[in-house]
Amino acid sequence: MLKVNNINVSYGKVEVIKQVSFEVNQGEVVVIIGANGAGKTTIMKTVTGLLNPTQGEISFEDHNTSRLSAEKIVKLGISMCPEGRQVFPQHTVYENLVLGGYLIRRDKPIFQKNIEHMYSLFPILKERSKQFAGTLSGGEQQMLAIARAMMSNPKLLLLDEPSAGLAPIYVKGIFEMIKTLANQGTTILLVEQMANMALKLANRAYVLETGHIALEGAAADIMTNSKVVESYLGSKKY
Ligand SMILES: Nc1ncnc2c1ncn2[C@@H]1O[C@H](COP(=O)(O)OP(=O)(O)OP(=O)(O)O)[C@@H](O)[C@H]1O
Ligand SMILES: [Mg+2]
Repeated sequence: MLKVNNINVSYGKVEVIKQVSFEVNQGEVVVIIGANGAGKTTIMKTVTGLLNPTQGEISFEDHNTSRLSAEKIVKLGISMCPEGRQVFPQHTVYENLVLGGYLIRRDKPIFQKNIEHMYSLFPILKERSKQFAGTLSGGEQQMLAIARAMMSNPKLLLLDEPSAGLAPIYVKGIFEMIKTLANQGTTILLVEQMANMALKLANRAYVLETGHIALEGAAADIMTNSKVVESYLGSKKY
């Protein structure tokens, strides 16, 4: 479904992604694990067209998306929940969902169905639909950010560190929601520093180290790899 082939990405002269290749097949949950600064967000931004690769190609279904604008890429069915729960704080929960659904807004029945679907997945958002998003707790904002990304009915959902900065109890809830979305048929590419729960959820995993893929394989194998256990699973287990 998504194929990333040998891409390099630079900020000015500094190359931060080096010859990275990976793929996500339909129906899979794929996780990219990497420490702070490894280049996870850079990869997500490149897939969604916010950055361009200086080398290599990205394709989604039958489209070469390497040079497409972010807007065109969203229309093809890729939606991203960015790092750091970027909700619109001065808008209500409902308005945030409306903004997430701008691509389907003209189709009222589908729009309404999506809103109801998100409210059923995240009942707290329904309860707080008229509350300003900026006044939600961190965990609630993360739920809203995911729900907003889902409002456009994406074929592929990208999640940039959904667990970052959340208490363990929220992390568990967020991962349960991600699992539900996956079970309902959404293909998911997730990047995470905290690897344990992500690996339990994922089918396949890639380990990113300072801009290159150091390891890849079935999530179950990566989880028991001694190097991964030492570097990413040892200190903090959820
Ligand atoms: N706009 C930018 N200009 C210059 N360098 C940048 C820019 N954004 C990121 N970088 C650098 O690129 C490298 C990768 O950053 P990136 O944000 O992709 O890492 P990350 O894996 O998402 O880290 P984190 O887990 O902290 O979110 C880092 O060394 C970072 O300093
Ligand atoms: Mg990041």
